[in-house]
Order: sequence, then C-alpha cells, then structure tokens
Amino acid sequence: MKTVSFTQMKDGTKEEYEFLTAHEIDHTKHTADRLLTALVDLDKSLSGYKITRLGHSVQSATRAWRDGADIDWVVSALLHDIGDIYAPYNHDEYAATILKPFVREQCTWCVQTHGDFQMLYYGHHLDGFDQHKRERHRGHPYFDDCAEFCERWDQASFDPDYPDLPIEFFAPMVREVFDRKPYDPAVIRRGERAPLTDAAVAAGR
Ligand SMILES: [Fe+2]
Ligand SMILES: [Fe+2]
Repeated sequence: MKTVSFTQMKDGTKEEYEFLTAHEIDHTKHTADRLLTALVDLDKSLSGYKITRLGHSVQSATRAWRDGADIDWVVSALLHDIGDIYAPYNHDEYAATILKPFVREQCTWCVQTHGDFQMLYYGHHLDGFDQHKRERHRGHPYFDDCAEFCERWDQASFDPDYPDLPIEFFAPMVREVFDRKPYDPAVIRRGERAPLTDAAVAAGR
C-alpha cells in the first residue's frame, strides 16, 4: 500500500489505519531533527538585538549547561523561544506544547509562562505592558524556578561576546529528550522540582 484509498476518514479500513499509524510512528522519530532545523530558521527572525534568535537560544542553553542544569533544563532553555517563528503572540505556550510530552512538568511550566516573567525586565519601558505580569502566577510551586530561569538564562542571553557552545553540542541532548516515551510519568515527575543549578556538576563541565 502506497497510500490509503479513502477520501473521507469515515471510509477507512483497519488495514489502512494500521498502515497510517506505522507511518506516523516513523515520522515522530525525526522530531528532534525537525526542531533543530526550525531552530536554525529562528536565525531569520526578530532582528534588532545584538544577537539572533538562534544565538539567544544557544546562549540560554549554554548558560544552563554551565550552571550544571540537567538535560530537561538545557533542552528547555534551547527551545524556549522556538514559538517565535509561528506564534509571535503566544510563543511561550507554543514552545511548551512541543516540550510537554518529553520533559519534566516543572520545565514545561517555566517555558509556558516565561513570557509573563520576562516582562519584569522591559514592561516599564513600553505602553500597555504590565511589568509585573508574573504576579498572576505568584504562589505557584514553580514560580521561583521560572523567575530563576528568566534571570539566569533568558534575560541574560543577548551577549554577542559570550562564548556559546555550538548548536551541534546540544543536538544529541535534543535527540535523547525527543526519543523518550511521551508522557512517561518517570519523565514528567509531576510536582517535583529539580534545581536549575548544581555547582558540583557545573565544576565538571
Ligand atoms: Fe521568549
Ligand atoms: Fe528568550
């Protein structure tokens, strides 16, 4: 079978749906590489900063890595702005949706809300922005983690002179994360908080 024969889903057979499922599983195996390609495409977006969106993403991940953060944090830092390409008005939610089945809930939440937290750094300079938009999340178990995510890795990563690691360095980590079993409770670890920094790990990197 090269393609199914139906033109309306309701007419499909068991064999056809099994055939499509096999195709879909094969497709999902290449998610990591598609994301890395998309990340390189970020380079074309949002000029005006001293570094590109790709540079910002790689720098955020490099800082996370050098802080001794675990793989969930590093990959989340790398992909936190990937939504800029297609979802400029909710880029944080877009990135979180991509990460959600494959990283700790804590990381997904921080990526999902980082847009609100980042406003602390620039909201007071612009009309119609709430500098303290993060306050609506006050009391959430991951509030402090997102504040730290933004302070250490996101708002700090616009420096053209910072020695970034190359994107190739992070590619195996992205592949490892997206090769995980989706929504595995052992990965999602609901409610658990892993530190963003680990001095002992950082010293060995
Ligand atoms: Fe962002
Ligand atoms: Fe960012």
